[in-house]
Amino acid sequence: MIHHQNKRIVKMMNMLFFVFYLATSTTVYTVDSLQRMSKDDLELERQLSLINKSPIKSIHVEAGYIVDCVDIYKQPAFDHPLLQNHKLLIKPSFERKDTQTSMKISPTKSLYGLQKVSCPKGTVPIRRVTKNDLIQDKYLFNDHCSCITFTFRWSYYGVNGTTSVWHPSVVKGQESAGHLYVQNGNGDGTNKIVVGWHVFPQLYNDNYTHLYTYWKSGNANGCYNILCNGFVQTAQIYFVGSRISRTSVYRGTMTELPISLVQDPASKNWWLSVAFKTIGYFPAHLFSNLKEADEVGWGGLTVTPSGTDSPAMGTGGLPNGDFGYACYFRNVAYQTVSRKFIGPVTSLAATLNDCPNCYNVRYYGDKGGQFGYSLQFGGPPCSCGK
Ligand SMILES: *[C@@H]1O[C@H](CO)[C@@H](O)[C@H](O)[C@H]1NC(C)=O
Ligand SMILES: *[C@@H]1O[C@H](CO)[C@@H](O)[C@H](O)[C@H]1NC(C)=O
Repeated sequence: MIHHQNKRIVKMMNMLFFVFYLATSTTVYTVDSLQRMSKDDLELERQLSLINKSPIKSIHVEAGYIVDCVDIYKQPAFDHPLLQNHKLLIKPSFERKDTQTSMKISPTKSLYGLQKVSCPKGTVPIRRVTKNDLIQDKYLFNDHCSCITFTFRWSYYGVNGTTSVWHPSVVKGQESAGHLYVQNGNGDGTNKIVVGWHVFPQLYNDNYTHLYTYWKSGNANGCYNILCNGFVQTAQIYFVGSRISRTSVYRGTMTELPISLVQDPASKNWWLSVAFKTIGYFPAHLFSNLKEADEVGWGGLTVTPSGTDSPAMGTGGLPNGDFGYACYFRNVAYQTVSRKFIGPVTSLAATLNDCPNCYNVRYYGDKGGQFGYSLQFGGPPCSCGK
């Protein structure tokens, strides 16, 4: 929450700046339109050329955007000033085992990345940033957020869980997400990594559900996906920002997103796995204060411009124990000093719900069977007030 409050302030400031900038450039526009226009354009082109690396191969995916296959050693992350001497790691130093389940769940193969064609060996898929994304990025800063999460106080080194993926309806300016996170510190010192699914038209220029990450170090602005450099992609098929090509059917077949975020005890990098496959990592050097986390959470988030109703969270249904009805996280676990995944202790569970008149979240502890330690969250579109 605290981080969102801060983000809002920062966003407002950016917004003011942007409005001012628009006003200025409009004035100039009347005087010297052509030159001014091309200057703005050139600046955007310059930024794009820094973000987008010359691809070995480019793939136009069905969802309507371009994925570049970039030399793994030349990916945008390595432009980050703190990663100048970073040595690429291909896999974490710990091992993971796949798990099987028997629920009615659609297969996860190729759900979160490239589908028909893949990137050549030695390259990784990176969603291409467009001029539009950079402009959109400026417009993101006019939002109001209401979150609901589930937290425990301890020292954490990992968080995981499998969530049902939905397709809540949102309008431009709004966001609706289901995610888990690790966080450390508070106020201006907050460091955070968030992973999940969301619908966010302003970020993608579409209404689809996407796999997303968000990270933030201290008082610097946070970043979605690869809109700023940092996340190191190692997988050849799954990538952050990709459209999730199928979503769950109400009381029918569930589409799931198994997520795991674990700090490597050796390097202190935070490794991200999706559907039990390693996608890449957030290097330890990106963070001012994330050697451990003092909070982990699972739940939903919605964002809406101030003065408007918040969109549906999850399925739009309130938690009621029916896993085909409201959005869930199952088999959730965290790692403490033992660095082994364990089910969250029910007596330490806390709920954080800043919009209780619309949404709810419930932790069930260990439900046994294929659900294990699980929770539900969500609620209908409505006014959170203020
Ligand atoms: C998203 O959906 C709304 C309503 O269905 C539609 O008006 C809008 O154009 C869509 N936006 C994008 C970016 O596709
Ligand atoms: C999370 O950890 C638990 C306990 O080890 C495990 O059963 C579950 O499969 C893990 N889930 C994911 C998505 O990694």
